[in-house]
Amino acid sequence: MKKSKLVLTVLITAFFLLLSACGTSKTSGTSGEDSGKSEKKTLRVVTDAAYAPFEYQDKGEVVGFDIDFIKAAAKQAGYEVKIEHVGWDPVFVEIKGKTADLAVSSITINDERKQTYDFSVPYFMSTNKIMVPQGSPIKNAQDLKDKVVAVQNGTTGQEAAEKLLGEENKNLKKFKDNNLAIMELKGHGADAVVADNTVVEEYVKNNPKDNFVVIEDAAAFEKEFYGVLFPKGSKLKAEFDKSIKEITENGEYAKIYKKWFKVEPDLTEIKKQQNK
Ligand code: ARG
Repeated sequence: MKKSKLVLTVLITAFFLLLSACGTSKTSGTSGEDSGKSEKKTLRVVTDAAYAPFEYQDKGEVVGFDIDFIKAAAKQAGYEVKIEHVGWDPVFVEIKGKTADLAVSSITINDERKQTYDFSVPYFMSTNKIMVPQGSPIKNAQDLKDKVVAVQNGTTGQEAAEKLLGEENKNLKKFKDNNLAIMELKGHGADAVVADNTVVEEYVKNNPKDNFVVIEDAAAFEKEFYGVLFPKGSKLKAEFDKSIKEITENGEYAKIYKKWFKVEPDLTEIKKQQNK
């Protein structure tokens, strides 16, 4: 009697051990498209790393505010990321063709892009501003009309400059990346650069010898918000919307912001936008 009870106990224990073993092997498997969270899937993130301080290359590594931000948001959502610098136009080609999972590249959320792509909730507020040499006669956006203006091709900066100069204007010089536009200004091939405020403001701060200044014209340039770019219909959008809101609430976003901008962020507007 005693012996058979022992055998039964051993058998039952073995049965449950076997069951739980099956359970673990299932959740720690390698495919796991269904769960996505039990094991960390690595997402391919593309960017145009020529837009400091948001994304740029430092000793062969892609770094910047956006990079730390996307790593934190991905971690919060249970993902690893592999970040690749592909260039501005290729960012859109890859997301459209779904060869990348998402893009982070200071990308302004706008209606035109929304027709082809999905965006996360906003994570950064921006506006275009004008960078000119000190002593330039350019004092506002209207002054750009008969001047040579350098912009990055395919950006909201190009769009804003086109509104002022007209689309076919030869005085509008379009470059593959924003650093080339700045080089043109440095080499006196242009009178001004129009680009995102943080980028030109940081440039002026970090390159005092260039003697550039930044001009704001809130009447000419709209308020913009950056979002993470996804292929249309990507299930990642909902997961990142959630994780972005979470890191904005839990202090992680503020930590990253302080690391890059040395000041506490004012999150009122961003939070308002995220919860719209
Ligand atoms: N915010 C602007 C836009 O979406 C410029 C972004 C450029 N980003 C970059 N990594 N070069 O058009």
